[in-house]
Amino acid sequence: MDERLLARLDRWVERREYPNRSEAVRDLVREGLVEEEWETGDRETVATISLVYDHHARLLPGRLMAAQHRSYAEIVSALHVHMDADHCLEVLVVRGPARRLRALADRLIATRGVKHGRLTLATTGRDLG
Ligand code: NI
Repeated sequence: MDERLLARLDRWVERREYPNRSEAVRDLVREGLVEEEWETGDRETVATISLVYDHHARLLPGRLMAAQHRSYAEIVSALHVHMDADHCLEVLVVRGPARRLRALADRLIATRGVKHGRLTLATTGRDLG
């Protein structure tokens, strides 16, 4: 690894308060491998999908609700937070084959009026060694 990259890594390790560089590298590698698994994976996975939207947007809350009911088997739990007078944050805990979760997240995030959305994979790391 070249020196500049190593220096950046060390600053990152410090900011994230990792006990040492190898712990940080292990997490980075794990994250990379987990992400790669998304592309091809049919493995049973747990993840969260977060969505921010303006609840005044016409038809949007109903559309999101309908989409979630279509995927009821994959949505374990839903948390709704009223962020301010206009915006809602929804966090869904989802479980199922990774590819299906990715597709569900993409559908929800692409719904017109959704301002921010993210899919985050949860892993125990056990399956990755
Ligand atoms: Ni709300």
